[in-house]
Parts: sequence; structure tokens; C-alpha cells
Amino acid sequence: MAQVVLENVYKSFPGRKGERGVAPVTAEPLVAPGDEAPTINVDQSHQLPGTVNILRRINLTVNDGEFMVLVGPSGCGKSTLLRLIAGLEELTGGKIWVGDRLVNDLPPKERDIAMVFQNYALYPHLTVYDNIAFGLRRTKLENDPEDTPKQMPGWVENMAVGMTRSLPKRLRYLSEKEKAVDERVRHVAGLLQIESLLNRLPKQLSGGQKQRVALGRAIARNPQVFLMDEPLSNLDAKLRAETRSQIVKLQRQLGTTTIYVTHDQTEAMTMGDRIAVMNQGQIQQIASPLQLYNQPTNQFVAEFIGSPPMNFLPVQVKAPLLLHHSQFRLTLPEVWAPFLQKYDGRSITLGIRPEHLTISVPAPKNLLVQVDLVEALGNDTYLSVRLEDSSTLQVRIGPDRLIQLGDRVWLSIAVDKIHLFDSQTGMAIRSD
Ligand SMILES: Nc1ncnc2c1ncn2[C@@H]1O[C@H](COP(=O)(O)OP(=O)(O)O)[C@@H](O)[C@H]1O
Ligand SMILES: [Mg+2]
Repeated sequence: MAQVVLENVYKSFPGRKGERGVAPVTAEPLVAPGDEAPTINVDQSHQLPGTVNILRRINLTVNDGEFMVLVGPSGCGKSTLLRLIAGLEELTGGKIWVGDRLVNDLPPKERDIAMVFQNYALYPHLTVYDNIAFGLRRTKLENDPEDTPKQMPGWVENMAVGMTRSLPKRLRYLSEKEKAVDERVRHVAGLLQIESLLNRLPKQLSGGQKQRVALGRAIARNPQVFLMDEPLSNLDAKLRAETRSQIVKLQRQLGTTTIYVTHDQTEAMTMGDRIAVMNQGQIQQIASPLQLYNQPTNQFVAEFIGSPPMNFLPVQVKAPLLLHHSQFRLTLPEVWAPFLQKYDGRSITLGIRPEHLTISVPAPKNLLVQVDLVEALGNDTYLSVRLEDSSTLQVRIGPDRLIQLGDRVWLSIAVDKIHLFDSQTGMAIRSD
């Protein structure tokens, strides 16, 4: 087991027209590795022509045994970051530690990391058994029998293994190493409940079964770190939810440090001990699921985490505590006063989650809207409503409230649940 530390990691790919050069990483201030990665707006200033900065200033510490989820929209650089950690891509700048080893210059197989890919990457011509055993046969096991003196030369032994492989099990010749491999394969198959599939070929498996075999192959190697790149995205919704909790359970059981990549915020919220939210090659915030939800550091995180997403409305600040919108006026709790002073007279962004809007009565602090869409899910009902200026809001209400398309209703905003953002920078204005 080991912690994984990324310090000031950069990655750029060559641009299209073959201009050479890499991002001058030394021109950037070095940010100490640590939990609270600073939020930085996208800046292109340190980019040479001919290079594309895919990842910038990535600082992340994944603790020993932790389940860390990297989440962000498609194309933000998640896979690239995982591939850098695995050693499948070369770093442009920065340092990567696995445990106390700087692995920058180590080839993938020496990093003691196992990766599970989205497309499973199983060997099609090998059985499930051999797929799981494949990596084991090529790496050293603990107490590797190959280190002990042999009774027969390796090549004779290999021949004996090969010649007897297709015989019934009790007639098969197993080398000491093969016995250890066999034990491990069966143990892992037991963990994942795929014992009955060991003799099948990948093409004889369902998506969910393939996914478990891919997981089994990673687990069998007993690495220090698991890297998983959207391993559930090829499964249907029900299976995805089931497998999600199985993976979390397994990880707890094994205690192996895990970095799990997904674009799906629900997966991130339900699986991660902590979540690192990425956008455009940078980490926006690293925090526990509820911290992200309750205290997003900027508007991007606020919108990305939570479904349906947070609503945003432009409002004018009237210090100390008033917010003006063309349709309503809110008085904020006292705690906001010191933070709003410098925004007096300026426009800022009010953020409010769908569940913090409720149907209410006419009042100056409430807003009148027209219902454009009603989605009754059974346990909850989602409304899409339109303001006078044609902007829309998502509202989540209880299932018992009967609302019809076209209804005009008054909404009240839970004033102790609001979020405020600087409209220029997108950074949260915090009262805590
Ligand atoms: N080998 C490469 N050469 C050039 N650009 C690449 C290469 N690999 C990935 N990219 C680009 O890097 C960005 C991030 O890709 P990726 O890490 O796959 O994102 P994600 O996994 O978050 O969807 C994308 O814009 C992609 O086009
Ligand atoms: Mg990807």
C-alpha cells in the first residue's frame, strides 16, 4: 500500500503543425503538494506556440488506502493524468511519487500499479482464468517460488506444464509458480464471484462479467495502487449502480489506494472518500463529497456537482445585506455582511440548488414563475420554470404537490442555503 503524490504535474502534447517546444514549467511558481489545490482560472500565458497544455499545475495527494475519484467533463484530461501515473505517458513537468519512490523515470511495470480500462482490454484468445493469470505469470509473487532452488530446469518444467495443460486437473503438472498463480486466481475469482466463468473466453461473457474479469486481473496482481478509467461506462444503469457498490466494498476490503476516473458526478459522489474535480486540465477543488456539494469553491464545481445542477441568477448587491433581482429582493443572514461590502452596487451571481426552492405565496422576496415542464419521478418531482426575463430554473419538489404544465407559481428561496459567486472570476464568495 502506498500514498500517491502528484506535485506540480504538467502535460503538453505537440501541436498539430510540428512546432517543437514544451511548456516552460519553470516559469510557473511551484505549488507545494497538499490538499487544497489552488483554483486558478485557465491561463494560456505559459504556453509556447506549437504545444497544447493538457494538464497544468496538478497537485494531489492520495492517501494510503484512500478511494480518490477524479471527476470532470469529457476531454478535461482525466485519462491523460491516469496514464501519466501509470507511466503510459511521459511527464512534461512535475513529480509523481508512489509510496516513497519517485516514479518519474520508471517504466509502467516497475511502478507496482494496476490499471483497469473502460474497454476492459481483455485478451480475446485467452480464457478468463488465463486473463487473470496473465499479469501474475509475468510478475514476481511474494515468496516467489522461482527464488527457491528448482528440482528440474525451467525449460523442462515449462514443457511439462504446457503438455499437461489440457489434461484433467489432477493429471496436470503444475510448477511451484503455477501453483501460486492458481491459488491467487481462484482466490480473486472467489472475491468477484466469477469462479464459474474461469474457462470461458471473453466473447462468451456479458459486459458486467467482462468488467469483473478486468477488475480481477488488476486485483490478482496485488499492486500498491489501482487506477480505474471509467470502468463502468459500458454497463447499463442498473448494473452500473450494483457494480459501483461492489467496487467500493472490494476496495475497502483490500485497502488498496485507488484513483478512479469518471465523468459522472453521481459515481463520484457515491464512491469517493474524496473527489478531485477537474476542468480544462486543472484541479478545481479536492474535498469530500458533501463538502463539494455544500461548499463548492467556484461556479464550475457548483454546477458540475449535483443533479439537476445548481441554478444561477444575476443579482445586484446593496450593502450590507440586500440582493436585488428584477423579480425579487432578498435579505441575507447577518454573516454575509463583511463579505458583501466590497461588492456594494455590483452584480454578482446567486446560486441556488433545485431542492432549496419551494412553492410559496406572493411576497417581495419570492419570485413568480411559469411552469414549463413537469417530471414526476415518483419519489420526487422536477419542475422546469421560466422567469419573466425568460431565464429558466430547475426546482425539486415533493411528489405530493400537484403542479400542471403552464401553472404560475410563487417560489421562495431558502436564504440560508444560497451560494454567491463573483461574476468576474466565478470564485465563491464565502461566509464561512
Ligand atoms: N496523444 C495525444 N495527443 C494530443 N492530444 C491528446 C492526446 N491524448 C489526449 N489528448 C487531448 O487531451 C485532452 C484530454 O484528453 P483525455 O485525458 O482523454 O480527457 P478525458 O479522459 O478527461 O476525457 C483532449 O483534448 C484530448 O484530445
Ligand atoms: Mg478519458
